[in-house]
Amino acid sequence: MTRWRLIAGNWKMNGLSNALSEVTAIAMAAERHGEVDVALCVPATLIERAVRAAPGFMIGGQDIRSEASGAFTGDSSAAMLIDAGARLTIVGHSERRQGHGERDAAVKAKAEAGLGAGLSVILCVGESDEVRSAGQAVAHVAAQLDQSLPATIGDPAALSIAYEPIWAIGTGKVAGVAEIGEMHAVLRARLVAAYGDAGQGVRILYGGSVKASNAAEIFGVPDVDGALVGGASLTSADFIPIIFAAARPGR
Ligand code: 13P
Repeated sequence: MTRWRLIAGNWKMNGLSNALSEVTAIAMAAERHGEVDVALCVPATLIERAVRAAPGFMIGGQDIRSEASGAFTGDSSAAMLIDAGARLTIVGHSERRQGHGERDAAVKAKAEAGLGAGLSVILCVGESDEVRSAGQAVAHVAAQLDQSLPATIGDPAALSIAYEPIWAIGTGKVAGVAEIGEMHAVLRARLVAAYGDAGQGVRILYGGSVKASNAAEIFGVPDVDGALVGGASLTSADFIPIIFAAARPGR
């Protein structure tokens, strides 16, 4: 099953109106490289303006609540993101799992709500430094995936898994190609166990200090179908070369 690469930027809590010119520049570069999917997950406050700044380009949010509406101060539903023009959302990022106490069951409910509403979903998993040092990385991440996965999926291309080792996020430390390859192979096997053939169509992204200088090497690892990029997605100068690396022929 052919999987197009997906390069998604996660702006986290960065970006004011003056960053919209970066969205436009990134969208123009993405258009020139039709063989790779590109998206930017911007702060909720910027979604609508980013969509207007770059019509047709894939803009996403960074989190949703699983409920459709209600007394949940500060949260946004899938329908709200769609209403603002978003086409995808991240769920289960480690910064939400750790900083907001989100457990696997909540992440699963968010993924199901997002897909059910028609959003594409990037579901994040990843181990801490302590877990890896204890030799438990694969078991931990596999269990996290099993417990966070939506019960069923329709179009497998609407779901992506992002393997983001917590120790590699924003640290400049990148997982080695052997570590990435081992983990992605395990994740692929779990996806096939969960969804049968459709599990081959789910993209598995790597995230954690991806930049222009290491992107090509990471994209060369089997079962790496793209990247979820934090810091290096904030400017077109840093992000566009990563898109180029993903679009390189010879996969
Ligand atoms: P960095 O690319 O800044 O390490 O962030 C990775 C990440 O958390 C993307 O979601």
